[in-house]
Amino acid sequence: MNFSYFNPTHLYFEQNCVAAHPEAFRGWGRRALLVTGRHSARANGSLDAVCQVLESQGISWSLFDQTIPNPTLASVRQGIAFLKEEQANFVIGIGGGSPMDTAKAIAFLACQDLPDAAVFDSRQYQDKVLPLLMVPTTAGTGSEVTPYAVLMNEAAHSKSSISTPWLYPRAAFLDPQYTWNVGLATTRWTAIDALSHSVEGILSQKGDPMITALALDGIRAFGQCREALLSGKFTPETRERLLYASLLGGLVLAHTSTTVVHAMGYSLTYYKEIPHGRANGLCLGGYMELVQKTHPQPVDAIREALGLPDLAAFREFLDRLLGEREPVTEEEILLFSQEASGRRNIPNSLVPPTPEQVAAIYREGFRRP
Ligand SMILES: [Fe+2]
Repeated sequence: MNFSYFNPTHLYFEQNCVAAHPEAFRGWGRRALLVTGRHSARANGSLDAVCQVLESQGISWSLFDQTIPNPTLASVRQGIAFLKEEQANFVIGIGGGSPMDTAKAIAFLACQDLPDAAVFDSRQYQDKVLPLLMVPTTAGTGSEVTPYAVLMNEAAHSKSSISTPWLYPRAAFLDPQYTWNVGLATTRWTAIDALSHSVEGILSQKGDPMITALALDGIRAFGQCREALLSGKFTPETRERLLYASLLGGLVLAHTSTTVVHAMGYSLTYYKEIPHGRANGLCLGGYMELVQKTHPQPVDAIREALGLPDLAAFREFLDRLLGEREPVTEEEILLFSQEASGRRNIPNSLVPPTPEQVAAIYREGFRRP
């Protein structure tokens, strides 16, 4: 067995972990920039908890709550201007993937001198970043433990990642209670995103025995929440399991990055504004079916961890979860297939699909149920 693994983020996974670990907020700077969306960090108590712990440690803070869904470079630049105005010297992301990725991009790009055209070109990065802390409040992205910040990329007609080890947060505080009141659609789509990170990790070129162990445990945790995801009835235990599945998905994603499923999903988000996790869900079953033809063993291990008798049962479960599909034309499918096929995560797939196979996966995803 040959493999390596690196993840420097200090994890705290427990109820009230922000208040329980004030020491983890010390030593990063005098003034924090808190990056959130407009409402949820206030509503779920995470913002209050962070403000209280900072005050208890004599650390001042400024709030940037202008994060937008599917953040753009312009929204990040706005955050950087505010950070400089407020003279903040570390950054705390509080929220789902969009606030966390915005926080990461602000902390990194504030220290770089990069024109917009070079933001996604890692060869031009300098080894500088402001310290980053993360408080996730949805269970899906895993961004609290990854070295990526995903932004809309107008030039590529897609989403692209800033990818550098400097983006690993210093610490992440995972408190399941912040996810208790997340709405049903967001809960479903973010859960599919978490599942997709683990499945794609196993079905990537970079999978290894340790990654497979992490991913399968994440998939098992998701599998235990299948009924809750369908019925919309969540207990604190299912919420905790989904957050755990998201964390493991993030640890996997940090190591393997993504495959054709995310490559295809990004076009659906860019062109049709389909939420990220749902977009992945529309492509995930088709990719698993393609892999199964030549590599049945890993697909079988995933199916078993999900607690399902066969892949058809997984497709059926996904169908019920995804419900009615968005209308899509054949011209759109051909355009999305062409764009997805050029993305760098395609060759990272365990079975890299041809453009024709990509189109077939799109058609299949939108045909059902
Ligand atoms: Fe994702």
